[in-house]
Amino acid sequence: MVNYYDMPTPLVLVDLDRLEHNITKTAEMAEKNGKILWPMFKTSKSSFIAKLQVKAGADGFLCGTIDEAEVLVNHNLTKNIMIAYPVVDKVNLNRLIKLAEKDVRIILRIDNLDLAEHINEHLKKHELHFEYCVKVDVGDHRFGVKPERVGKFVKKLEKYSNLKFIGLATHQGNAYEASNPKEVEEIAKKTANLMEIAVKSLRKYGFEPEIIGAGATPTLRFDVESPVYTHLFPGNYIYYDRTQALVYGSASLDNCALTVLVTIISIPEHANGSIAMINAGSRFFDKRIHGHIRGYGQLVEYPKAILISISQEVSKLDITQERNIHVGEKVRVITNHSCFTNDGACFIIGHRGEHVEEIIPIDAKSEIRLEKVILNNLLLSS
Ligand SMILES: Cc1ncc(COP(=O)(O)O)c(C=O)c1O
Repeated sequence: MVNYYDMPTPLVLVDLDRLEHNITKTAEMAEKNGKILWPMFKTSKSSFIAKLQVKAGADGFLCGTIDEAEVLVNHNLTKNIMIAYPVVDKVNLNRLIKLAEKDVRIILRIDNLDLAEHINEHLKKHELHFEYCVKVDVGDHRFGVKPERVGKFVKKLEKYSNLKFIGLATHQGNAYEASNPKEVEEIAKKTANLMEIAVKSLRKYGFEPEIIGAGATPTLRFDVESPVYTHLFPGNYIYYDRTQALVYGSASLDNCALTVLVTIISIPEHANGSIAMINAGSRFFDKRIHGHIRGYGQLVEYPKAILISISQEVSKLDITQERNIHVGEKVRVITNHSCFTNDGACFIIGHRGEHVEEIIPIDAKSEIRLEKVILNNLLLSS
């Protein structure tokens, strides 16, 4: 068996025991509370990981891109797909239509009339109907309809006969602005209240939602207990990360499944042993810092060694409190934001303990598919 310390660096690693634990525990928690878990697939973009989620009970997914949806369908992993963001590009709408023709339930999210009209016209030409949820703005202020205006909005959309209303969906993106678990709890409660207001607004106009869903890992532990939701769409819970552990309290550092294996390439003379350089850069590490934490990541083996600066191919660690680190050593970084780290990889290495067990392709990554699958098909069919 190959030990990951014998692999070339930098490499993204996933601890399979932790990954499986996170997936199973969340699935059980959802089931126990009567919630349907449709994980956000953009976190892993990997059919290998989606398979584990299906095995744990997921019978649907939320997708960030059409590539993600196509990969899930091509691997026969689900018949229920909700698309998180508006699809306007007609080539992409046609790709969704192809999926619907394979008997897949496609659910869109809509938050404005122009979008509804655009999609409705396109569907009309293909004599097809899509279901949709109204995207509700609960404080993220990216997409969304205000909760108290949802009923009136759905009423206005009744004229678009190729679109069928089935519910409400939101993402508590504003939870990422919280600086501690207490604030996360307040945002979760506020979101549930706003979704209840949206349901009341619907009922005023005679609409009854089949789906009332929300999804974000920081608030997940509160959302499962909230009676308003039927569906939950978290993504990051499969890996967690340093921010989830140290700021939001969604998990502990021991639950973090994704790390970057790097080599210490220099403890430069100029810094008197206070910094170390590693051979991994901006592709792996998110530069956003949330809450009170210092730096962009920390080492598993030396937890007080903090990633303080990121360049394209190398990064800098503050090792003033971890003076035993030496050049040539291989170490693992827990990053602030695992979705970002996963997104930078084309494959990740699955390990148990130090033993490498799987090479896991990030096979729904758009750049890979766009070149190999989509553009080639378009050129061939033109
Ligand atoms: C629309 C939407 N829903 C759900 C999620 C999942 O959130 P998290 O990664 O916090 O679990 C995201 C993540 O960015 C998202 O953009």
